[in-house]
Amino acid sequence: MSFDTNQANLENMDLEEIKGKTNQAFEEDESQERRSCKISESSENTKAKEEPDNAVNIQSDKNDQVSICYEAGPYAGMPKEVLIRYSNQLRYRLPREIIFWLFLAATIVLIACTITVIALSPKCLDWWQASPIYQIYPRSFKDSDGNGIGDLNGITENLDYFVYLNIKAIWLSPVYKSPMKDFGYDVEDFEEIDPIFGTMEEFDNLLEAVHDRGLKLIMDFIPNHTSDKHRWFQLSRNRTGKYTDYYIWVDCKHELNKTTNPNNWVSLFGYSAWQFDEVRGQCYLHQFLKEQPDLNYRNVDVQEEMKNVLRFWLKKGVDGFRVDAVKYLLEAESLRNEPQVNLTQNPNNITSYDELYHDYTTTQVGMHDIVRDWQHVLQEFSKEPGRYRFLMTESYDNEEIYKTMMYYGTSIQQEADFPFNFYLIDLYKEMSGNGVFKIVDYWMRNMPAGKWPNWVVGNHDNSRIAFRVGAKYIKLINMLLLTLPGTPTTYYGEELGMENINVSKDEIQDPFGKFDPTANRDPQRSPMQWDSSDNAGFSTANKTWLPVHPNYVTVNVEVEKEQQNSTLTLYRELSFLRRNALPIHRGWMCYIWNDADIFAYVRELDGLSSVFLIVLNFGNSSEVNLASKISYLPKEANVRLSTDINKIGNKVQTASIITSAGEGLVLEYKTNNPVHTKAEFKDRCYISQKACYLNSFDILYKNC
Ligand code: GLC
Ligand code: CA
Repeated sequence: MSFDTNQANLENMDLEEIKGKTNQAFEEDESQERRSCKISESSENTKAKEEPDNAVNIQSDKNDQVSICYEAGPYAGMPKEVLIRYSNQLRYRLPREIIFWLFLAATIVLIACTITVIALSPKCLDWWQASPIYQIYPRSFKDSDGNGIGDLNGITENLDYFVYLNIKAIWLSPVYKSPMKDFGYDVEDFEEIDPIFGTMEEFDNLLEAVHDRGLKLIMDFIPNHTSDKHRWFQLSRNRTGKYTDYYIWVDCKHELNKTTNPNNWVSLFGYSAWQFDEVRGQCYLHQFLKEQPDLNYRNVDVQEEMKNVLRFWLKKGVDGFRVDAVKYLLEAESLRNEPQVNLTQNPNNITSYDELYHDYTTTQVGMHDIVRDWQHVLQEFSKEPGRYRFLMTESYDNEEIYKTMMYYGTSIQQEADFPFNFYLIDLYKEMSGNGVFKIVDYWMRNMPAGKWPNWVVGNHDNSRIAFRVGAKYIKLINMLLLTLPGTPTTYYGEELGMENINVSKDEIQDPFGKFDPTANRDPQRSPMQWDSSDNAGFSTANKTWLPVHPNYVTVNVEVEKEQQNSTLTLYRELSFLRRNALPIHRGWMCYIWNDADIFAYVRELDGLSSVFLIVLNFGNSSEVNLASKISYLPKEANVRLSTDINKIGNKVQTASIITSAGEGLVLEYKTNNPVHTKAEFKDRCYISQKACYLNSFDILYKNC
């Protein structure tokens, strides 16, 4: 039977007939009396009375007697007419309407709450803000195949070390195919792995293993130049098709083995930045080694090629790039001579890079457009949740810090996530509380509001901390690095306190015989010190590419893991504290005090009563009365971490904080009077992304 016929039949049925019929899969109880009728005397009387709610049939006969039939109540399987009748009664309608309006109101409240929570939630910190970035110099990290040079498998085998240190992001110095004149910064093929380091398959394995552990991998991107062995250069020097203008070629006179250079530009490694090429009969520009010809970024094909290099690695799943030597991308087309620093110097004697101002070879107009283009490429690959691709740029502009800050971009035009902050590398020039304060403040004062700071204390281009400032300051500098706001970058081995090796060029073992003799840049590149076995556990070779530092017997991962007072243990503790303590992770930093010895600052977060006061001694033994300088400081604070393990857990009187040279304290106290809320601290506090903590719900919110 069709639905319509069924319906029609139901409607025609007498109510009495329905009793006892099977309806919608259940049987009614036939014994139940549903209807009772009463007879009253006159319809007048009946009309006078209220018609009862459950009256279903009222009839008058000719004697004016009225019979009223009543239903006993709604029942399962009742027909539509009965159902409608009941459902219109007030006692059923009212609760139904109340429930409906309550439900509607609850839905609106829920939507409003959701919107409010989203609007009030501060941005979560991204992975590149969440932990230190660790720089691996692949030649020196771990040699897995016993040839004395570190490799990709060596890194893969040691990834648990980063889990141990709570490091989430690794930056790999270049592993691309290279003649190794500049140890990988001279790239022969941007899309190949150098056999010294392994194979592409081994790279893929490394990347997978990195991601398996929840870590991220940042590659070195070297856009300014290629190796002279690169296919593009070979094609360019032969003037082949579109490659003809891939590099910067200029006519120059070359007679009797002597070149007359197009202008006075010098390379960073000294002497003219021009090199005559016999094949093409012209000079090409090289801002670095002569084996590193500069690419011509005025050529859009070159720009496209390099974007495709980024895409190649992004497709593989790498998480970001450190952009090498970015300020050298463009040069003035005028080829004008650069101004001399010393105007009285004979122009013919200019050979070194710092004898000129580099007005025409660095930071040229158009350079930022190129970097922004790279950012756009990264954004193409950043769309999946949790897959943000990160960009940091290498540029050092000395006192012209505004040039460095430009890489941050603006709120409308994003560029790099941050440009490296190298200023702390120069800390040795003024090793004092005041000196460190000045360096920190220099960055914080110049950084665009809302941007994220970062701090670098060492890398493969600079001597180790121990060499620059002395071994007794290593722990202290790591403490500074990990308690300042922003992302710290750690060069491999600094977490152990590794030191420069004493190395002469003759000692350098290069099985491929390709070492570039122009500079000794290697004392800070010695093999990672893993344990006390031969070659510090770095390699099983008879000889490693650089000698291992003789202190490896005591300065190594295995030994230091076991020592509570070691540089490594403190580094790890700091790294975990940074992760777990919201004020250190993302809170305010306010300068508290600095003098010849001490640099002290607090880390606070709105809504949290727990405050960290960091007191670092970069000078001589000192006793400082911070309570007298800042009246809001509580009398007492607990030592949460210290360069001296014996002090952890002690109480310190803020009226008398005693530290020795190289000593650092992370103190903790509770207060309802955070200094960042005080008018006199208005210009002494910084925060990147404001957030407040709500204790009762254990949530963060903004707009506080
Ligand atoms: C960067 C690297 C350095 C390299 C140079 C040229 O400054 O850090 O090691 O020599 O670029 O690529
Ligand atoms: Ca260039």
